Amino acid sequence: MQAGTFRSDASPAGAAKPRSLRASRAALPPRGTPEGIGERPRSTRAQGHGKVHLVGAGPGDPDLLTVKALRLITGAEVVVYDHLVGEAVVALIPPAARRLYAGKEAGNHALAQHEINRLLVELAREGHDVVRLKGGDPFIFGRGGEEMQALLEAGVECEIVPGITAAAGAASATGIPLTHREHAQTLVFATGHLKDDTVDLDWAALARPRQTVVVYMGLGALEIICTQMISHGLAADTPAAVIHAATTPRQCGVHATLATLPGAVRAAGIRAPALIMIGEVVALDPGALLAAAATAG
Ligand SMILES: C[S@@+](CC[C@H](N)C(=O)[O-])C[C@H]1O[C@@H](n2cnc3c(N)ncnc32)[C@H](O)[C@@H]1O
Repeated sequence: MQAGTFRSDASPAGAAKPRSLRASRAALPPRGTPEGIGERPRSTRAQGHGKVHLVGAGPGDPDLLTVKALRLITGAEVVVYDHLVGEAVVALIPPAARRLYAGKEAGNHALAQHEINRLLVELAREGHDVVRLKGGDPFIFGRGGEEMQALLEAGVECEIVPGITAAAGAASATGIPLTHREHAQTLVFATGHLKDDTVDLDWAALARPRQTVVVYMGLGALEIICTQMISHGLAADTPAAVIHAATTPRQCGVHATLATLPGAVRAAGIRAPALIMIGEVVALDPGALLAAAATAG
């Protein structure tokens, strides 16, 4: 496969009661009730605490928000949002709402995770209902689990509103199907986040045939990832792609092979946020979607 560049232009949410998830599941309301799982009526909320919604903002395109996320964002009183929440989604926050930027750009954390946890607890204890807006899905490499735990431990009610994760957004926006009966029966999401200049993944499990691997936060470790996948058994000509800013007007990327991807990404100047997709399905990109090729600026 040749290296190339390309560019293109809810179900009921889970909620958690301030105890355990098991307890909150037991408290599931009947289907169709407007309150979330385990949600108590406002009047009985602990000590006048507000509630925190951990809301998935999706990969960037505001049209990919769930109806519930849109309703919560446009009606928000206080919003705590991350770096990866799309500008067009941030623009939906009402002007009168209090906006708090929590950052978390690689190497540039406006607030450390424990400070974000504390901020959410404090805002809720002050009686505010908080929309905690996170890129993609809160429970996929979003540290939403840690925030939920901190809130529950502090006795603060929270509810999770899922979002479209970057892999699903990128797959749809490029036309690369993540699974395919003839090419990929399993799909793995992994983090390529560097720790002590290395990335510690189960390479043997990742380098399996007929499997699609999507690596989040992996751009800095791209060379290591491609080398390890080849040395653990994948063919050097396995199709692989990097997609930047999927579903936003800045979307661009390169498709190549495991052997050629690092060079192709360097040549195109692709930067974070970006996903690495590895597997036969990458070769199925329909071309038409990728016709408006462009290199990253
Ligand atoms: C901290 S993780 C958050 C993932 C998020 N919770 C999700 O479900 O998509 C951040 C990483 O997600 C990926 N990412 C998020 N949005 C993206 C987008 N629009 N295009 C490509 N990659 C994206 C990048 O790998 C980025 O470094």
